[in-house]
Amino acid sequence: MSLPVSLAAEVPHGVDVLAVPVARGPALLGDGYGLEVDQLATRSFEGKVGETLSLPGQEAATLLAVGVGPAEEVDADVLRRAAAAVVRAGWKRRSVATTLLDAVPAGGDREAAVRAVAEGAGLAAYRFTRYKSDPDPCRLEGLTLVAGESEDADDLVPALERARAVVEAVSLARDLVNEPAGSLTPSDLASRADEAARRVGLEVQIIDEAEAASLGLGGLLGVARGSDEPCRLIKLTYEPPGATRTVALVGKGITFDSGGLSIKTAEGMMAMKTDMGGGAAVIGAMTALPALAPPVKVVGFVPATENMPGGRATKPGDVLTTRNGTTVEVLNTDAEGRLVLADALALAVEEEPEAIVDLATLTGACIVALGQKISGLMGNDEGLIERVRSAAQRAGEPAWPLPLPKEYRKQLDSEVADLKNIGGRHAGALTAGLFLEEFVGDVPWAHLDIAGPSRSDDDDGPLVKGATGVGVRTLLELLADDGFVTGVGGKST
Ligand code: BES
Ligand code: MN
Ligand code: ZN
Repeated sequence: MSLPVSLAAEVPHGVDVLAVPVARGPALLGDGYGLEVDQLATRSFEGKVGETLSLPGQEAATLLAVGVGPAEEVDADVLRRAAAAVVRAGWKRRSVATTLLDAVPAGGDREAAVRAVAEGAGLAAYRFTRYKSDPDPCRLEGLTLVAGESEDADDLVPALERARAVVEAVSLARDLVNEPAGSLTPSDLASRADEAARRVGLEVQIIDEAEAASLGLGGLLGVARGSDEPCRLIKLTYEPPGATRTVALVGKGITFDSGGLSIKTAEGMMAMKTDMGGGAAVIGAMTALPALAPPVKVVGFVPATENMPGGRATKPGDVLTTRNGTTVEVLNTDAEGRLVLADALALAVEEEPEAIVDLATLTGACIVALGQKISGLMGNDEGLIERVRSAAQRAGEPAWPLPLPKEYRKQLDSEVADLKNIGGRHAGALTAGLFLEEFVGDVPWAHLDIAGPSRSDDDDGPLVKGATGVGVRTLLELLADDGFVTGVGGKST
């Protein structure tokens, strides 16, 4: 299903398309294989990142110029975008080779470049075609990265394998998010997670309603009350031999958010099958861990439920008691994500992890603040926040730090309970973050509000219209950060 990417010393014989990098200018980078700058200039090809132009070739039937922008600014993000453009241009062909690695400046990190190209290509080749009578899947049977003679290609193979694991993990997350809520209920999500996790050898525990009640998961059960579908709490564990440290991941798993009795508008509900995007990211990322083998225990929690306005639904004014005993007055049933996360974060704390990272399509306010392409990043530990920020940056999933101002905490004071589930009119992403902070105790914690980036409105580099699988790459990058994994960014770092 996913696009096979391989390495070769030279351009393979009889390849359909050969894609060569062209920097801004336009200027050739490496061998042009007959491509001339004049040809490009007369066709007003500038070499912008991801720009493509097809010409008849000698080495291959089609010679494809692919823009990489200013030569000195070529980085992983540029390579991902350029590779994605190559895949889109070669969509209907059988085989494509590319010399994109020639765009890496001398002394640059070729392994990172291989990863970026393979990832960008693989992610751009993704389609969700399950319900299409006439799908238009990528016809490409393979993409060959021409590594040149100078390099021992064997050294680059692990980078390629890593990229494949990442692409598969992101694709799983996208599949889960793209699946309509009608065919991905909380129990469906749990069985899909169970199946994927068992396949790769993770430990799986699916907690049903009865167990949730005995565990005191009042937030999760309170949200689930309005739905005919039973809730689930999905717990996945990756524990490599010898691991001494633990990281906990938590992902919001609302399979459909109608708003509950504080019901959303028709328009506001249209994309709400996406409200389990954080949970999908945790499930996706965790299924790649056995292949990537970070030397740390990772426990993932996904509280999964629908948020519906059924006859038994939680009513505004009701009080719920969460896992850690904190009581919450629910004044807006549409602020449900924080209720299910409250329980899951409290359970994560019980694992005594060195760090907790949660991902949630939590607030429309975060989209207002940062738009659709940037996640909000909050937390209680500057060291951990910086590690997550830089992992997100390296992964090509930008996250921007937002504050958790102490002076806004009183907006969550309730007349009748310990907390209410909404703040004032403004700073909704921050008051949501402050609410979550109440459930993490002293554990270093970072929170990614992915409400914006969980979907893309267009094909954009490695992103395809629809679910993005955002967060998977960030988590895997974070768990590949040795400093994080061995000296987890706690208060001490
Ligand atoms: N799932 C939504 C947040 C969301 C909105 C995600 C738009 C993606 C796109 C969340 O459950 C929600 O409804 N949040 C409310 C909170 C409010 C009631 C305090 C919001 O953002 O309006
Ligand atoms: Mn909601
Ligand atoms: Zn929601």
